[in-house]
Amino acid sequence: MEHGTTITQFISEEQRRSAGATGEFTALLNDIVTACKMISNQVNHGALVGALGSAGSENVQGETQKKLDVLSNEIFIQCNEWAGHLAAMASEEMDDVYQIPSEYPRGKYLITFDPLDGSSNIDVNVSVGTIFSILRCPGGAEQPGVRDFLQAGTQQVAAGYALYGPSTMLVLTTGNGVNGFTLDQNIGEFIITHPSMSIPADTREFAINASNMRFWESPVKRYVDECLAGKEGPRGEDFNMRWIASMVAEVHRILTRGGVFLYPLDSKMKDKGQGGKLRLLYEANPMSFIVEQAGGGSITGAERIMDLQPESLHQRVPVILGSRNEVERIQRYHTE
Ligand code: AHG
Ligand code: MN
Ligand code: MN
Ligand code: MN
Repeated sequence: MEHGTTITQFISEEQRRSAGATGEFTALLNDIVTACKMISNQVNHGALVGALGSAGSENVQGETQKKLDVLSNEIFIQCNEWAGHLAAMASEEMDDVYQIPSEYPRGKYLITFDPLDGSSNIDVNVSVGTIFSILRCPGGAEQPGVRDFLQAGTQQVAAGYALYGPSTMLVLTTGNGVNGFTLDQNIGEFIITHPSMSIPADTREFAINASNMRFWESPVKRYVDECLAGKEGPRGEDFNMRWIASMVAEVHRILTRGGVFLYPLDSKMKDKGQGGKLRLLYEANPMSFIVEQAGGGSITGAERIMDLQPESLHQRVPVILGSRNEVERIQRYHTE
C-alpha cells in the first residue's frame, strides 16, 4: 500500500533544495519530531500512566506546573540534548538557559519551546500542544547565555507545533510556507496531510477570553463590540466566537478555516507590570512565523510581533493574530 510522504522524507527533500544544507538541520527537526511523538504518547495515555494532575511545583511564570508540563519538558531535553545540533535550549518550564551537558557535542542552533501548551486543559481532556522555535546561535557562543536567545522573530530558522487532539498533528514552517502532518499511530510516522496551509484573508470568527472584557483597552473593546453587534452593527454581519484556552488549538483552527485570536494587553496585566499573557520567545514568535508564512498577520496591537527586539527570556507580549484583513483592521484601531 502506497503511504503518503513522511515528515522525515519531506524535511530531507526540502533541505536538499536549499543550498549548503548539511543535513544538520534535518537531523535536528527529526529529533524534535521524536520528542513530539513521545509527548503525544504520554498525553494519550493520561490517567492510565498517572500523568495527570499537578506536579506540586511552580515555574518561573508563577504557574503551578502540571505533571505533564514537567514530563514534556524532560522528554524534549532528552531527545534534543545529545545529538550535537544545539548550543543551548530555553523553555517555559525552566527559569534559565539549559546548557548542553559537557559530555555531548554542541551545535550551531538554539531552540526555545513550550513543552505543553494549554496545560490547564490536560486534566479535562481538551486538546493541548507543544510549540517550538529554532534560532541560529550567534557565532562562537561557547557558553550561550540569555542574550544569545534575545533575537527578533524575523531571525527564526524554523517554527512549529504539535497538536495533541482527536488526531496528533505536527505543523511546520522553515520559511517556505506551512505544511501539516498527521501521526499515523500504526507506523509511528507523521504523514503529510495538509500541504501548503493558507489562512483565508477574511473571517467572521474571533477568539478571545471574554471574562477579561472590563480590563481591555479601547481598540480591542471597539473591535469585539462590533463583532458582537453582528448584522445590526457596523460590520453588518454576524460573528462566531471560540475560546479553547490552548493557543495551539486556536492557531490550528485559524490555519484550517481562518479566524482571529486575541490575547491583548489589559489593565490587570499592566498592574502586575506584565506586557501581556503569552510569552514572546516560545509562544508569540513561533506562532507568528507560522501564521505569517500562511498569509496571516500577527501584531501586539500597533506593532508586528516578529519585529520586536526581545528584552528577557520569559518576556510576555500581547498577541493578535490570524486572517490578514481582520488583523489589519484591529491594527488600524490601535493606530488611528
Ligand atoms: P501554557 O499552558 O503553556 O501556560 O499556555 C496557556 C496559554 C495559551 O495556550 C492559551 O491561549 C492561554 O494561555 C489561555 O489563557 P486563559 O486561561 O487566561 O484563557
Ligand atoms: Mn504554563
Ligand atoms: Mn503556552
Ligand atoms: Mn506551557
